[in-house]
Amino acid sequence: MLKLAVLVSGGGTNLQAIIDAIADGRITNAKIEIVISNNPHAYALKRAEKAGISFRCICPRDYADREDFHEALLLALEQSGADLVVLAGCMVVIPEQIVRRYENRMINIHPSLIPSFCGKDYYGLRVHEEALARGVKVTGATVHFVDAGTDTGPIILQKAVKVEEDDTPEVLQRRVMEEAEWVIMPRAIDLIAHGAIQAVDGKVIRVKTEDGHR
Ligand code: GRF
Repeated sequence: MLKLAVLVSGGGTNLQAIIDAIADGRITNAKIEIVISNNPHAYALKRAEKAGISFRCICPRDYADREDFHEALLLALEQSGADLVVLAGCMVVIPEQIVRRYENRMINIHPSLIPSFCGKDYYGLRVHEEALARGVKVTGATVHFVDAGTDTGPIILQKAVKVEEDDTPEVLQRRVMEEAEWVIMPRAIDLIAHGAIQAVDGKVIRVKTEDGHR
């Protein structure tokens, strides 16, 4: 059983997609051990509570400095016994010491088809504003393993979404979430829970699983 720690900062719709996928069997062999937010007001925490999942807030301003915050976050992750750390709408920059500790065991969802519209300062609505400004006809979302860079880790899954002529950034963001993020995040977790993928030389490959997992 793959133990998950899910890091959130906001609305938690990706967390909800994971909760729902576990409930309806699209994800098997995985369990959310804890939801951790850096933001005490994150609606994601209410979603965890409603689902009966342990949750806690580890908030930077409650610590003397960034280092203490990072230590507290790492301790919470280790105490959770998580096999996989899932960044689901997480706005915290994960420090190198934690990235190293969870090498190829930490995944992130980014609301574009990496390597487009990603990297430092590309998050939230800005990603979709830039996609519309560039006039792309297709965008989407990416789930990737987290490495020391920003949105640079090995790509696990991507899903494309059509850009409509009259899209606003908000409308496009919602479509990318509904049609891409909430589909590939659960799928990626299910693949990992069944040992169906491996990161090799910076690329993710599919491996045959004993249970013939698809
Ligand atoms: C999503 O667009 C996700 O791609 C980005 O944060 C946004 C909010 O996610 N990382 P959520 O509703 O909090 O899951």
